[in-house]
Amino acid sequence: MAKINKEDSALGATIEEIDLREPLDEDLTAFISHALAENEVIFFRDQEISPQQHKDFALRFGKLQSHPVYPTVEDFPEITILENDEKNPSKIEKWHTDMTFKQIPPLGSILLGKVIPKKGGDTLFSSLSAAFNDLSKEMKESLMPMTAIHSFEHGFKESLAEPYGREKLSQALIDNPPIEHPVIRTHPITGKKLIFVNSLFTLKIKSMSDSESKGLLDFLCEHIKQEKYQCRFSWEVNSIAFWDNRSVIHKPDNNYWPQVRRMERITIDDTQSPY
Ligand SMILES: [Fe+2]
Repeated sequence: MAKINKEDSALGATIEEIDLREPLDEDLTAFISHALAENEVIFFRDQEISPQQHKDFALRFGKLQSHPVYPTVEDFPEITILENDEKNPSKIEKWHTDMTFKQIPPLGSILLGKVIPKKGGDTLFSSLSAAFNDLSKEMKESLMPMTAIHSFEHGFKESLAEPYGREKLSQALIDNPPIEHPVIRTHPITGKKLIFVNSLFTLKIKSMSDSESKGLLDFLCEHIKQEKYQCRFSWEVNSIAFWDNRSVIHKPDNNYWPQVRRMERITIDDTQSPY
């Protein structure tokens, strides 16, 4: 039977004694769902799974998304390829929650390590519930009624500024107009309060002047990425990180250039709006 080995940090746990090539039964699915909600990100090692097994595993937790920008594995439009090397360094430098430019952002993602640099290329995760808990009562109360604008255009501004960037992403721009989310959301399973802004996609606090909004967002985005709320995952080939996209921000450590890092990611739909 699978076991949980908690990280010595604010979040994160490794699930051991499990073979993800085998179909998950109801009990094991419930066990993993619970482990994910409680620990906010869970890890697996030595899972040599095929794209179909990756997809079957993800389907146990919800419907699967496709991403408007990244390339995909042949015959598997749900599996996005994140590949970076000397010619194509990672553009993801900022801490973020995935795809908060959508009205219902994803429940989570299952990222599989395929080609891993000998040194570097870790992924960092930070707990939005631990960050919320540390705020003063006064700050918590003042944030509670606020909402913020999240924007695809803001998050992909570097890609849009490249030659033909606007043309390439024109449909994604039409499909993803700016939208509004609460600044504090409640996790639907654990009931924990979470700070739901991120430095990649959050454009502005609604109903504030630009300078007030900038001051508050700068504070919150610095606050949520403090080391005391983080865990660091060091990849091996066939490692998996499964994060709860409602509870964490994350970023890759892009310190492996010119080595190659190739990951395959499936993103799972949520059914509940943060509103
Ligand atoms: Fe991401």
